[in-house]
Amino acid sequence: MTDTRLENIEACVFDAYGTLFDFNSAAKSERDSLGDKADEFSALWRTKQLEYTWLRACMGKHKDFWGVTGDALDYALDTLGFDDADLRERLMNLYLKLDAFPEVPQVLKDLKAAGIKTAILSNGEPKMLDSAVRNSGIGGDLDAVLSVESVGVYKPHFSVYQMTCDELDVPAERISFQSSNAWDAVAAATFGMKVIWCNRYGQRRERLTAEPDAEITDLSQMLPILGIG
Ligand code: LAC
Repeated sequence: MTDTRLENIEACVFDAYGTLFDFNSAAKSERDSLGDKADEFSALWRTKQLEYTWLRACMGKHKDFWGVTGDALDYALDTLGFDDADLRERLMNLYLKLDAFPEVPQVLKDLKAAGIKTAILSNGEPKMLDSAVRNSGIGGDLDAVLSVESVGVYKPHFSVYQMTCDELDVPAERISFQSSNAWDAVAAATFGMKVIWCNRYGQRRERLTAEPDAEITDLSQMLPILGIG
């Protein structure tokens, strides 16, 4: 736990996949098909998905996150020797209904009750995000669901973080950004947001351009940092 306190925060913005929604829940639901390769498969799918976003952003060759998620899935299925079109379709459908982490609904309610704006900022394309939000029933406690599709480039391009400030009409230093992705946390901090890194996966800190303001292991721990509860 941390004794950091963030003052004057007007909006809390959350990464989606890995932060609010558990991307491993798709492979878990297909454990019968994936067998003892399920964990390795899920990790490879995620790693490739992110690599493709970074590579596409670098090359200026955008393709939306649904397409990138499918490409990464094909790579992971191929690498681990699964040749099964039905399994592919089931996994893609599961990605639309990922479980929210258990603490998420109450944290959003507590933030709203404290008068703080809440939003998602994600690589996800709008229909994917809409589906995940509806499935988890958290839409009523979100003021905005922001997708990189409105700027046409992936995180960590700074235009993504700038769009968030513009859409919410809140300056970067009054936003607390929460991500489980260490690189996303570093990028938002470098851009100028306050950042709480939700280190769910026990990662080491990045050696990059900035440090998050605080590190937690589940989102309920952000409330005392903001002076709530
Ligand atoms: C997102 C990915 C990075 O939701 O998790 O933007």
